[in-house]
Amino acid sequence: MNFRRKAFLAFVLLAQVSFLQGDEHTHTYKATEEVILWMNTVGPYHNRQETYSYYSLPFCAGPKEQIGHYHETLGEALQGFELEFSGLSIDYNSETPVSVYCKIELNDEKLKAFLYAVKNKYWYQMFVDDLPIWGLVGEADETKGEYSIYTHKKFEFGFNGNQIVDVNMTTENKVQLVLGSTISFSYEVFWRKSSVKYEDRFDKYLDPNFFQHRIHWFSIFNSFMMVIFLIGLVSMILMRTLRKDYARYAKDEEMDDMDRDLGDEYGWKQVHGDVFRPAAIPMVFSTFLGTGYQLLVVTFVVILFTILGELYTERGSLLSTAIFVYAATSPINGYFGASVYAQMGGKKWIRQMVCSVALLPAVVCGTSFLINFIAMYYHTSRAIPFGSMVAVACIVFFVVLPLTLVGTVLGRNLGGQADYPCRVNAVPRPIPEKKWFMEPTIIIALGGVLPFGSIFIEMYFIFTSFWAYKIYYVYGFMLLVFAILLIVTVCVTIVCTYFLLNAEDYRWQWTSFFAAASTSGYVYIYSIYYFVFKTKMYGLFQTAFYFGNMALFSLGLGIMCGTVGYIGSSYFVRKIYSTVKID
Ligand SMILES: *[C@@H]1O[C@H](CO)[C@@H](O)[C@H](O)[C@H]1NC(C)=O
Repeated sequence: MNFRRKAFLAFVLLAQVSFLQGDEHTHTYKATEEVILWMNTVGPYHNRQETYSYYSLPFCAGPKEQIGHYHETLGEALQGFELEFSGLSIDYNSETPVSVYCKIELNDEKLKAFLYAVKNKYWYQMFVDDLPIWGLVGEADETKGEYSIYTHKKFEFGFNGNQIVDVNMTTENKVQLVLGSTISFSYEVFWRKSSVKYEDRFDKYLDPNFFQHRIHWFSIFNSFMMVIFLIGLVSMILMRTLRKDYARYAKDEEMDDMDRDLGDEYGWKQVHGDVFRPAAIPMVFSTFLGTGYQLLVVTFVVILFTILGELYTERGSLLSTAIFVYAATSPINGYFGASVYAQMGGKKWIRQMVCSVALLPAVVCGTSFLINFIAMYYHTSRAIPFGSMVAVACIVFFVVLPLTLVGTVLGRNLGGQADYPCRVNAVPRPIPEKKWFMEPTIIIALGGVLPFGSIFIEMYFIFTSFWAYKIYYVYGFMLLVFAILLIVTVCVTIVCTYFLLNAEDYRWQWTSFFAAASTSGYVYIYSIYYFVFKTKMYGLFQTAFYFGNMALFSLGLGIMCGTVGYIGSSYFVRKIYSTVKID
C-alpha cells in the first residue's frame, strides 16, 4: 500500500460514522491465521439491486462460532450490504479437504423457497478479505421440469507473501430438489502461490474490453470536437451579431430625439430596464442555485477522490465519501444561495436557508422512504436500517445545518450586494408577442439537446455499471465528460439567453436555468429506453427502485446543469449590458 492510498484511506475512515476493527482489515495474515468468509446477499441475476440477505434462503451456516466483530459503515448500510459470518473455517495457507459443513431437511417451505430462487436465477455474493465472490444458487432444466441446487463450494485462493491476492470459487455437485430429502453442503479450500501483486488484485474484476472500448474513446473524442466547434461557433456568432447590434445602437444615439422616437429600436437593449429585475419566486430560485453550486463541487471532488484513491475497490466507501463531502461543502450552498437571494432583494433569509438545507435531503429521503416501503414489504436487504436513518438525520441537523448557516451569513454580508450595470425600471415592460420558437418553453426544450448529445454514451456506461455487474473504474473519462458537459451547457445557454433577450423577453433567469436543466429530462427519457431495451429487470421493487433512483439522479444533474447555465448567462448578460450605452 503506497502512501497516497494510505493517506486516502485514513480520510475515508474519518468519513465513516462507524469505524472498522479486526485483523482482516490489515489484509495481512500469518500462517494458518483464520480467514473469514462473509455471506452477503442473494438475489435475482437480472435485478442487480434487488438483494436479500443470504440467510433469507434456507441455507445453513457452518459449525464455527461467530468470531471477530464486523462494523458496518454508513455507506454499506445504505447500499444494502448485509455481511453475515458463514461459519466455515478457512485458515491462511492451509488446505481443507472436502468436508460437509451442514445439512438441511427439505420440508415444504424450504423446497418452495429454493424452487423460487432457482427459477428466478438467483445468485449470491460473498466477501473474503474484501474480495467479492459470486455463485449461482442452482440450475433449472425447464424442459424436464427438474430443479437442482449446487451443494459444493470449491475455493481456490491465490496468495502472495502474507496477503490474499486472488480467489476463485466453483460451485459443483448439483442435487435435485425433492421434498423430504436431506441436502448436505460441503466445501474445500486450496491455496496456490500467485505472482499477482496485492495492488493489482482488483484488476481481474475490471473490464477494460468494455470500458475502454473504441466506442468509448471515440465518443469522448467526438464530444471534445463538438466542444471546440461550439465554442468557436458561439463566440463567432455572438461577436458578429453583438458588434452589429452595438453599431446599430450607436447610430441610433447620433439621431436626435425626434428621429429616435420614430425610429425602429428593437432587440435586447430595449429590455435594459427589466433585465435585472429579480427572478420570479427568488426564494426557490436561490435555493436551486445554492444547491447547484454545492452539487457541482461535490461531484468534482468525489470524482477526483475516486481517481486518486481508487475508491471503487472498497465496499460502500464511494457513498460514504460522497455523504462526507456533501456535509463538508454545505457552506457553499449557504453562501451562494444567500447571496443570490440577497441580490434579488430577498428579506426572509432564515426561511431561504432552511429551504437550502432541506431541498436535497428532503427529496432524497422522500424518494428513499417510498422505495423503503416497498423494500420492507419485500424484505429486501435494500430496506434502510433504522440506525442509518438516524445517522443521516443527525448529519443533516448537526453538520449540514450549522455549516449552511455559516455560509448563509457570509453570503449575505460578503456577496449580497447587487451591482447591476443598469437600473431596474419601476414598472415592468410588457413582453411583446413573438414567434412560437422564441417562447421560453421551446427554448427550454431545445436547450438540453446538445448537452445531452455530449454525454449520452457516458450515461450508457454509468447506467451499465450501476444496474448490471460492471465495476465502473474509468473515472478519468468521467471527469472529462463532466467538463465537456459543463462547457457545452454554458455555450448553449448563452445562445438561448441571447435569443430570448433579443425577442425582448426579459425572463432570462429561469429560462436559462431550465434550458440547461432540460438535459436531465432527456437523461430521464434515455433511462426509460435503457430500462426497456437494455435490461431484463422485472418486478415492482426493482422497477420502483430503478425509476426512483433515476429520478433522483436526473434531478441532481438538472440542478447542477441549470446552475452552470445560469452562471454562464448571468456573466454574459452583465457583460453585454455594461458595454452598451444606456441613456
Ligand atoms: C482463478 O481463475 C483464473 C482464471 O481461470 C486463473 O487465471 C487463476 O490462476 C485462478 N486463481 C487461482 C488462485 O486458482
